[in-house]
Amino acid sequence: MLKEIFEQPKALAETIAPRVSLEPAGLRIAEEVRIPQSELRELKRINIVASGTSRHAGIVGQHIFQELVRLPVEVDYASEFENRNPLIGRAELTIVITQSGETADTTGAQREAKKKGSRTIAISNVLNSTIAREADGVLYTNAGPEISIASTKAFTAQMAVLFLLAAYIGSVRGDLSKEQLRGWIEELLDLPRKADEVLKQAPLCQRLAEHFRKIEDFLFLGRAIHYPIAMDGALKLKEVSYVHAEGYPTGETKHGPNALIDEHLPLVMIATCDRNDPGSVRRHEKDLANIRQFKEQSGRIIAIATEGDVETKALANEVVFVPQAPELLSPMLEIIPLQLFAYYTAVIKGLDVDRPRNLVKSVMQE
Ligand code: F6R
Repeated sequence: MLKEIFEQPKALAETIAPRVSLEPAGLRIAEEVRIPQSELRELKRINIVASGTSRHAGIVGQHIFQELVRLPVEVDYASEFENRNPLIGRAELTIVITQSGETADTTGAQREAKKKGSRTIAISNVLNSTIAREADGVLYTNAGPEISIASTKAFTAQMAVLFLLAAYIGSVRGDLSKEQLRGWIEELLDLPRKADEVLKQAPLCQRLAEHFRKIEDFLFLGRAIHYPIAMDGALKLKEVSYVHAEGYPTGETKHGPNALIDEHLPLVMIATCDRNDPGSVRRHEKDLANIRQFKEQSGRIIAIATEGDVETKALANEVVFVPQAPELLSPMLEIIPLQLFAYYTAVIKGLDVDRPRNLVKSVMQE
């Protein structure tokens, strides 16, 4: 798992670099998407279905698509998709995300979407997997084989592919100008370097895992696009270290979980901020207000914050910094310290971090 966490800069570089060009600014994914541009222009809605960590990437994707493509996006648990008899039809695109390409729930959801007339695009890490073969288009996450049960590098690569796909569809539909696309490509190409920077925080994540080794419950919080990262941080901790953790939208704490918050329930808060984005600054002010309130309740806060954020540093008990990035790309950096925290917690407890009990790498039964 540690090896795969550290392979994330390479996974990002190999997923992004071959598909983009700067002069002229463009994306080379038409052959992978395989759906005619005329159809992409007619799309009315996008559905995303996936399981576990791949679904968390899907929720990050929902925010990206809504920003770059301006279409409604629904995200479903693959295991729930058929149960709700989804209203899907033509002029819709269903994106199925799966590291293994063999997850039975996700194959079932993909078949259901196709039956109802939707086009499908698979995002998979495994060449020629069942889901890749059955999709209209396939975009591979070039993360290299992921062996450890907990998904780490495939997750960051999935978010990168979702970004490329959204930028492509946004460009085709005229929602994204050439200049905007160029700006995004420059940012994307800089992500592997920033991921490398985050990895330098591994010793701090190890110290935090040592410090909180006796804790049996954590609450992970995040707002907007950072909420699925909170959920994934909680999932990683649960699955490899058997510590109970829940991921929650930060703003929802006042609707119930607040009652739980005291010195015995550490809060892992994603509190990053893109200082160039007024929407992000507004959201971050709410984060700071929440941190103040949790502290009044004796809450202990481990914040994931943006380098140079002195306010969060002054308020939180512990801070792990990540480099400044646009909000739509920041999740790919924020997840890394949470993966490291889960990893070190499991190792400190003497657990088999690569093969947690009761889990398999490809869930081939429904
Ligand atoms: C968590 C994890 C699982 C998988 C899920 C879907 O770390 O690995 O939650 O994400 O079982 O698997 P794939 O992506 O292969 O469909």
